[in-house]
Amino acid sequence: MRVISIAIPKGGEGKTTTAVNLAASLAAAEKKTLLIDADTLGASGISLGYTADQVKSGLYDVFNYTHALNRVICKTELTYLDFIPSNISTVQMEERLLRLSENRTVMRMALRDVENQYDYVIIDCPPMLRGITTNALCASNSVIIPMRASHFSLDAVMRLMRYLKWIREVANPQIYVEGILMTMFEPNTKIAEITGRELRSRYSKFLFKVVIPKNSTLAEAAFYGRPVLLYNINSKGAQAYFELATEIISRESAAGGFNAMSEGSPLTEPSAYGQVSGSAGNAPRTDQF
Ligand SMILES: Nc1ncnc2c1ncn2[C@@H]1O[C@H](COP(=O)(O)OP(=O)(O)OP(=O)(O)O)[C@@H](O)[C@H]1O
Ligand SMILES: [Mg+2]
Repeated sequence: MRVISIAIPKGGEGKTTTAVNLAASLAAAEKKTLLIDADTLGASGISLGYTADQVKSGLYDVFNYTHALNRVICKTELTYLDFIPSNISTVQMEERLLRLSENRTVMRMALRDVENQYDYVIIDCPPMLRGITTNALCASNSVIIPMRASHFSLDAVMRLMRYLKWIREVANPQIYVEGILMTMFEPNTKIAEITGRELRSRYSKFLFKVVIPKNSTLAEAAFYGRPVLLYNINSKGAQAYFELATEIISRESAAGGFNAMSEGSPLTEPSAYGQVSGSAGNAPRTDQF
């Protein structure tokens, strides 16, 4: 089982869209997949057609130790895709979840319950770097960083890279960057060109080959509560997320499975804008999950 967090400490970068549609594409490739909505706003649930009144239990109960993770799993329209909603309905619950997630190992321990049930676990994180995001990163093998073309997004990537370095030092030495994913991409625009250039100079080894184009069908599908492949499978958005899933699956098989892959994927962190330090993350790592 591979656990992948979708994270960046900035709103509106395409985390939820990526989490939902990557999970659906993995499921369409007959990989048993669990999508966890770790954002208290519950956007992943909404994107899968779950309304607040349909959600009786969820991630809050896992953190509150009232239910085991197994008991809060929901089915979806896709046979291979299961889902855990975020059932936070009040500010008090949100505050309590923040306190409960101070124990960084809750998610990691809870996922042991389903270790043999899934090929992939995809976690949709909120746009911040504390609380439940820390918990998700501590439970993850890797992280996908979605970002749109903008200066502030580059800044957020850099903050996340620093945070990952800290996570590796204090809690999860195995975590690595699965890739940086350009979302809402508009070719032939100045901002796409500048952002692309900056990304290649600082993070070229982390860039996914595939980019997700700006495609209104992705937003429409979320509005109708369906992953895009069940809404319009021929859309550019659906095809791009299929490609992303294929890239992730084929990397894993090319590396001979996850254990082999985690050995050679160092996390490096730029020491300053425009300067990439190669020494930050070369410690060997092994898979504990
Ligand atoms: N490739 C795309 N093309 C067009 N619209 C998109 C694309 N990806 C995402 N969107 C839209 O952009 C908005 C933000 O996307 P999304 O909710 O996935 O971001 P997020 O990073 O999860 O945001 P938050 O941090 O607030 O949770 C949504 O309305 C979504 O439908
Ligand atoms: Mg979101």
